[in-house]
Amino acid sequence: MKILAIESSCDETSIAVVENGNNVLSNIISSQIDIHKVYGGVVPEIASRHHLKNISVVLQECLEQAKCEIEEIDAFAVTSAPGLVGALLTGVSFAKGLAYGFQKPLIPVHHMRAHIYANFIEHELELPAIALVISGGHTQIVKMTESHEFMLLGETMDDAVGECYDKVARILGLGYPGGPIIDKLSKEGKPTLTIPKTNVQGRYDFSFSGIKTHMLNYMNQCDMKGEKIDAPTVAASFQYNVVSGLIEKVILAAKSEAIDTILLAGGVAANSELRLRLGEKCLENNIQLHFPKMSYCTDNAAMVGVAAYHKYIREKNKEKFLDFLALNAISTREITQDV
Ligand code: KG4
Ligand code: ZN
Repeated sequence: MKILAIESSCDETSIAVVENGNNVLSNIISSQIDIHKVYGGVVPEIASRHHLKNISVVLQECLEQAKCEIEEIDAFAVTSAPGLVGALLTGVSFAKGLAYGFQKPLIPVHHMRAHIYANFIEHELELPAIALVISGGHTQIVKMTESHEFMLLGETMDDAVGECYDKVARILGLGYPGGPIIDKLSKEGKPTLTIPKTNVQGRYDFSFSGIKTHMLNYMNQCDMKGEKIDAPTVAASFQYNVVSGLIEKVILAAKSEAIDTILLAGGVAANSELRLRLGEKCLENNIQLHFPKMSYCTDNAAMVGVAAYHKYIREKNKEKFLDFLALNAISTREITQDV
């Protein structure tokens, strides 16, 4: 079964062809990072306009790379929630047009579920698992009991971890997106600064807004005292602290729930220190750790195609995927609620 999947929830226009849920024939990603960089973050209206401009070109390139005619596609899939509503709407409208034109099923996909399914591109589905879902908009610990069955165990009380990376990078004047920049810079420094913990009272919950304020205060104090800021030390200290908080809670969740598989999902899953240190911790605790390869961590359509395939095969009433004309984009949607 060949699925052509579309992702446009934020600032990446991506289209992929995925065969039988794990064979990625092509995965084209057109990133708008350079366009939004000057504003220090994604500007929703600009993102929507660029999706519109790019999407037909990305489709053409995707089919060429997959060596596939559009008539060979068995079903279409699209991220319909959550995300920037105008950005999502571009992908949803385009997908509806294709599915209608070629009279094929259209499978709507939840963006955060797709991030988790990125783990099953190169591995068999091993469930139950605990997923640490960490991106620019989300920080959640989720129990995945079966394919497309999720329970929320904990989440951030305020900012998402990726958002915190992006804001701290902005305070340090390092550019956008902050995650990969801080990750790289922290390799040149030592984590010697004391920074508040990300833990809050809830057993599996997090808080990142205090760290952000702490970093801002630290920078201001250095400024007032005329002290030079050592960016690698700040980056290393910030990252060490954030990664420690994530590791502590996800290991606690896996052990308490007696589940021996952890999946990393979302853009922050690309973080090198997290991959390394969580890997060591999992080894100590006899837990299997899976994370997607780098190009499948940040937004891409291959993960949407994989999530769509698993949704399609477990659905008894496949006719429902032909009834898509009322499908709409939704900006917020819990991971426990499918689209
Ligand atoms: O999943 P994603 O591509 O988009 C959303 O759905 O939000 O995640 C983007 C986020 C950004 O905040 C970015 O700074 C962060 O992922 N990120 C990283 C790294 N690479 C990307 N954060 C920490 N370390 C990285 N290496
Ligand atoms: Zn994402």
